[in-house]
Amino acid sequence: MDTEISRRGALAVGAAGAGAIVVAGCGASSKPAGGPTGSAGPPSTAGSGSGTRLASLSAIPVGEGIVVKDGDSAVVVAQPTRGAAAAFSAKCTHMGCTVKAAGKELHCPCHGSKYSATTGAVLHGPAPRPLPKIAVHVDGGSVVAGA
Ligand code: FES
Repeated sequence: MDTEISRRGALAVGAAGAGAIVVAGCGASSKPAGGPTGSAGPPSTAGSGSGTRLASLSAIPVGEGIVVKDGDSAVVVAQPTRGAAAAFSAKCTHMGCTVKAAGKELHCPCHGSKYSATTGAVLHGPAPRPLPKIAVHVDGGSVVAGA
């Protein structure tokens, strides 16, 4: 009897340990990218609806992109040419990790995919598709969600 309980206990501990490893892996991938995220300032309103201020255009180097939080999501906000803005989901199209800004590229920390920071195009797999576009416009020096 004691042996059976011990086996169950061991199985439970083993299962919990395996779960913890999986959770730790997911947790690390769902965090927003570091670096310039903080310099863009928080969105002015929560959620991903039209009209949400995503970033100040001056916080984004021309030809590059930054990753910002938009509610529970991470969004890439780019300045392809001076004064213009583009945005993409920061969720890697391979398995959903959050990409990180890396100059003119976006790098996925999970399996090494690389994207263009200004177009969201795949530069290096295994990502199968470009990052989905998000409609944005520039309003008073801010990049705002919505067309
Ligand atoms: S989840 Fe991004 S490369 Fe796999």
